[in-house]
Amino acid sequence: MNFVVKPLTEEEEALIEERINVYADSMAPSEPHTEEESLVFKAEDKEGKIVGGCVVNIYAWGRAVLAQLWVDGRYRHHGLGSLLIRAAETAAREKGCYYLCLGTADYMARPLYEKHGFRVFTVNRDIPMGHESWSLSKRLDQAVPDYIPKDNTAAEQYHVKPGSKEDAKIIDQGLGAFCEEVVPDRHAYIPLSRKLIDGDGNLIAAVICGIGEDDTADIDGIWVAEGYRRQGIGTRLFGDVEREAKEHGAYVILSYCCDWVSGFFFRNGFYSPRRAFRLSQGPHVLRARKENLTERPVWRPLAAPKGAEEGRIPGCQRAAGCDTI
Ligand SMILES: CC(C)(COP(=O)(O)OP(=O)(O)OC[C@H]1O[C@@H](n2cnc3c(N)ncnc32)[C@H](O)[C@@H]1OP(=O)(O)O)[C@@H](O)C(=O)NCCC(=O)NCCS
Repeated sequence: MNFVVKPLTEEEEALIEERINVYADSMAPSEPHTEEESLVFKAEDKEGKIVGGCVVNIYAWGRAVLAQLWVDGRYRHHGLGSLLIRAAETAAREKGCYYLCLGTADYMARPLYEKHGFRVFTVNRDIPMGHESWSLSKRLDQAVPDYIPKDNTAAEQYHVKPGSKEDAKIIDQGLGAFCEEVVPDRHAYIPLSRKLIDGDGNLIAAVICGIGEDDTADIDGIWVAEGYRRQGIGTRLFGDVEREAKEHGAYVILSYCCDWVSGFFFRNGFYSPRRAFRLSQGPHVLRARKENLTERPVWRPLAAPKGAEEGRIPGCQRAAGCDTI
């Protein structure tokens, strides 16, 4: 069958994300039910200039992600970062989330998060190259006393309030400038998302991915239309992405995948640097990683692994081999 490969538009990307979500919901209903949304928090000086802020993304299965925590260099170490973390936790709780996770690196703020009760659940070696980064999480449904910093003068001076999308850009720029000093951007973000369409113009499959400024490629989602699955189309998409990522100089491809699709990732040469972790009400999730970008995946029509009919694969069953976070 002949397909045409084309770049994915932003609208199509949203559509594919929606289809992936519907599929995920059919495999593991989104309980507790939380609506996807992005919340912005900021603190301003007397002139209304943003001196710190963060973004909290709410996802299905009661998950929240604390992203882009940043405090202007002149205002650090007075408790402002902690004030923002507490605001993020409160907001996530109010939205019905039971856990909050985040990513940080060795040149960022792991000790700060640990003081606030976050614990490491994934170590990412050489992400970015030459550095170690971590994923941390904190349960929000368990009583943990708030961490109050030794210097907490910011709590008297600043009031954290909701921000706009424009504010989020300022926060992102502040954090970006901080990171740029340690790990200079090698290039702008390179989008690699693409779709497959058939001769009638029908959207058959798509992959959402790109290469970050630090030469790490990310796969955010892959989707093949029902009726076209188990024919090697997903593998073909992965292969194309991998070849292009390599041509652009990416040294690793990273993704998160749920247990029902992990067999597909493993057969395409990904591995998980640690055991799966389980969202307590939702599926098991794996950090999938592929480093050797020279080996092209070959699709073999294997029999579905035992347990695949319920969406589970051996070694990734609900009760075993997983940590609950
Ligand atoms: C990380 C950041 C947000 C912290 O903000 P802050 O207002 O300085 O933090 P706080 O004053 O609330 O710090 C509270 C405590 O954590 C410690 N802490 C804060 N940042 C830390 C860091 N990067 N490394 C180690 N400890 C840190 C403080 O020393 C203080 O400890 P104490 O109570 O024992 O004295 C800020 O330093 C920043 O914007 N850094 C650059 C961007 C960044 O790394 N963002 C995090 C992205 S994951």
